[in-house]
Amino acid sequence: MEARERIIVALDVPSREEALGLVERLSGQVGFFKIGLQLFTAHGPSIVREVIGRGGGVFLDLKLHDIPNTVAAAALEAARLGARMITLHTGGGRAMMAAAVEKVSRWSQETGSKMPLLLGVTVLTSMDKTALHSVGVTRPLREQVLKLAQEAEGQGLGGIVCSPKEIRLLRGAGIGLPLITPGIRPQGASHHDQARVMTPFKARQAGSDYLVIGRPITQAEDPVQAAAEIAASMEG
Ligand code: C5P
Repeated sequence: MEARERIIVALDVPSREEALGLVERLSGQVGFFKIGLQLFTAHGPSIVREVIGRGGGVFLDLKLHDIPNTVAAAALEAARLGARMITLHTGGGRAMMAAAVEKVSRWSQETGSKMPLLLGVTVLTSMDKTALHSVGVTRPLREQVLKLAQEAEGQGLGGIVCSPKEIRLLRGAGIGLPLITPGIRPQGASHHDQARVMTPFKARQAGSDYLVIGRPITQAEDPVQAAAEIAASMEG
């Protein structure tokens, strides 16, 4: 896989026009475009179709978390829309993850469609020890991340979204699934509101498979050049 194909551009922009403008410029230069809750809530499934129509692969970041039947049905709809990566919360439990995997893989086999990656979200990076304690999780945060990643792997998910600071923990414990990491900043770039960041090179070295990158690309004067530089820096 080429380095640029490992870049997932987070389309955290307010308007449909801005999002599609970025896709038109960057399509073919990066691997995927991440559509999150804001863009999806504002523009619905049509924004997914429009990104795909412009040649972009879609990472649909809806972080599904509900009863197994509901999550499986929503994951199936996301797959039918054409999303190549779909997130769900591993905290939803084994039955929820297994139901989603079962339903989407059956659809994939029956229709001959490519299986999207169902990605597990472990502990949100906005949660710290105190926040975890407040919802009754008393084990150390890193243990909780590892536990949830193991559950995700056990239920057949296709990858895990984690902080780049957690890559070594997961790889060290034998997690073999693809790891998808936000919180990436090129050397010398603004960190914006990200507290703990890693460079593209270091994240790749540690074992990240896909890098979610928003503002360093979307707010660059030349997003295509920014993406190309990041791809080059990944290989050192
Ligand atoms: O602009 P920036 O590169 O910081 O964007 C990172 C993207 O990854 C945003 O869409 C953000 O919501 C998402 N994300 C994150 N940290 C997480 C999970 C998702 O930054 N733990």
